[in-house]
Amino acid sequence: MSARISRRALLAGLAALPALPALTALTLVGCEVDRTTAAPLSTVDTLDFSNRLRIPALAESTVDHDGVRVFHLSASEGSAEFLPGVSTPTWSYSDGRYGAGFLGPTLRVTRGEQVRVIVKNRLPEITTVHWHGMHLPARYDGGPHQPIASGELWEPEWKIDQQAATLWYHPHPHGETEGQVTRGLAGLFYLDDGTNRDLPHQYGIDDVPIILQDRSFDSRGRFSQRGRAVTGLLGDKILVNGTYNPYVPVTTRRVRLRILNASTARIYHLAFADDRDFALIATDSGFLPSPVGMRRLLLSPAERAEIVVNLRPGEQPVFRSIPWNLNMMAPLTNGAGGNDHLDLLQLQAGNSLAEGGRIPERLKTSSPIALDHVAARRTIQLDGREINGHQMEMSRIDAVVGAGTTELWTVRNTHNQPHNFHVHGVAFQTVPAGASTPDPQLGWKDTVLLAGGEAVQLAINFPPYQDPLTPYMYHCHLMWHEDVGMMAQFTVVDPDQVESAPRTLDSDHDHMAAGHDH
Ligand code: C2O
Ligand code: CU
Repeated sequence: MSARISRRALLAGLAALPALPALTALTLVGCEVDRTTAAPLSTVDTLDFSNRLRIPALAESTVDHDGVRVFHLSASEGSAEFLPGVSTPTWSYSDGRYGAGFLGPTLRVTRGEQVRVIVKNRLPEITTVHWHGMHLPARYDGGPHQPIASGELWEPEWKIDQQAATLWYHPHPHGETEGQVTRGLAGLFYLDDGTNRDLPHQYGIDDVPIILQDRSFDSRGRFSQRGRAVTGLLGDKILVNGTYNPYVPVTTRRVRLRILNASTARIYHLAFADDRDFALIATDSGFLPSPVGMRRLLLSPAERAEIVVNLRPGEQPVFRSIPWNLNMMAPLTNGAGGNDHLDLLQLQAGNSLAEGGRIPERLKTSSPIALDHVAARRTIQLDGREINGHQMEMSRIDAVVGAGTTELWTVRNTHNQPHNFHVHGVAFQTVPAGASTPDPQLGWKDTVLLAGGEAVQLAINFPPYQDPLTPYMYHCHLMWHEDVGMMAQFTVVDPDQVESAPRTLDSDHDHMAAGHDH
């Protein structure tokens, strides 16, 4: 087990801090600028697993005469049934054929392919579609600088040039991400590269997508957006791929779960009820060099983890989320779901199981980031709802990076609350304290969770795509935090132009970016 993961497991396993005297608790809550409402000590949801897990369809695509793989995605309003007999208004993505009324189809592409996605906004308001974890030119990234007006089309096209990974897509409009994701907009984006084919890999059979989201429902069955913890909006019911109270039939001895935390704020501490171990094989942006056995896994919003679980015939282990501790005062931890016990999903193994995939001892993954030429070292401070003392400003470029260079970023969470940190357009590796190279066993990441007071050092390879006028984002991925401004912007430019590149964007630029692709 890796240093970081075991330290985390330790951290999360520590007993909760002793409860504070009531006065202190009140004072703490009182000085939060956020609209924090009193939250119960913990939510407990014990399920009977009566609904078969929905599996998002694989998106249809065609290959045009230039060899470009073309997908269609349209975002629209609809409805779906989560609770028996209750219709909930939703937003979702459809590829034209598949539209479940919630989430979107899984896009699947192979390294080296040229891909175009024709996105249509059928919603009553502006949206964007961000390809979370994708390495692509900034103007196709789908962040707040690529708004798609209601009724309009957006057609990003790029070449898939990164290793196999489980990515995802979601809206990223300025200040509106939490609300649009809550209504149902999100989907998976799988990248294949032909490696690690020994692993279970039959989509929805022994390689099962697991999109975790929490929701509360109001008395009319609508998603409730009331009651925020300091980390954001929490729900008391967990949907897996939009299924409440789910089970998944298992027909093989080994099943791979590709887990995405697509919740807006909830941090999951994943474990099996019988405490069985599982093998972690991949993190956000690629495979580990070798599988890591573990029993607990912390996953914050936007992070992904791929695990393989061994099953014997007839076994029915329950996958759940258990309490965590991230150095936050007890009342705030309770409010943020840190004491919740939530059943997520039951695996239901048949009475005879096929052999299926294996767990190889070594996995194929990119070679680690070398640190012999570090172009820049930066310190990123997360505190309150700010990054380095600033809130997001669409016209301010906070950092300019040389195309194709490697940088070392020290990210410090000096706040007494957890935050997580995501960088667009890159994959990074963690350099343990005191070490001079990344530890590859800590995985390829694009989003990392930091407990209150924690710091991490990230080795980051920046993309080759230069564009001094279109920024990528880096931000806290607790979606309410990013919406209220816990976000900053960087551009990638010719390494000789880092000093001279613009630090401000004029407001016209956004209008241009919205309408044109070059
Ligand atoms: Cu998942 Cu800025 O994005
Ligand atoms: Cu945050």
